[in-house]
Amino acid sequence: MSADILTELRRHIRTVPDWPVPGVQFRDITPLLAEPAAFKLMIDALAARYEAMRPELIAGLEARGFIIGAALAYRLGVGFMPIRKKGKLPHECIEESYLLEYGSATVEAHVDALRPGQRVVLVDDLIASGGTMGAGARLLQRLGAELLECAAVIDLPALRGSQQLREAGLPVFALLEYA
Ligand code: ADE
Repeated sequence: MSADILTELRRHIRTVPDWPVPGVQFRDITPLLAEPAAFKLMIDALAARYEAMRPELIAGLEARGFIIGAALAYRLGVGFMPIRKKGKLPHECIEESYLLEYGSATVEAHVDALRPGQRVVLVDDLIASGGTMGAGARLLQRLGAELLECAAVIDLPALRGSQQLREAGLPVFALLEYA
């Protein structure tokens, strides 16, 4: 990946201090999505990596993973599969829960969302604690996917989420790291 491309992407990501709670530096991708050249650069950068891996399906995590994952799927000419917060999908689902700072959260996928052995890339905008990405990966594995990679635009390595995912045996990739 060229450093120029990554610098350009970084230029369009806004940091909002102390949101949603004091001490959090929120990395906001909405300016990047609003700028057509930057949005295209981001999707093309991901497509360049995943074209070679020949995924058959892109799975996106609600909500920002839908935006990036759907655009990537369209760009690669493959299908898109939503992984949603519990209670949103209409057909029979399987679920996975993960721990939050206080309490837990649950994500779901349709039982027939993929064919066993299908080659899948899992996409979200950002990896923080890694909980959502890990739960999404477990759902895909339970459905029989060949999970090619967990992909994000931004990794926050200080939170150790990507490290934990890798220690759990999952391949992880992010375009950018924010300290
Ligand atoms: N999700 C968890 N931590 C975040 C952060 N710092 N910026 C954006 N999304 C997040």
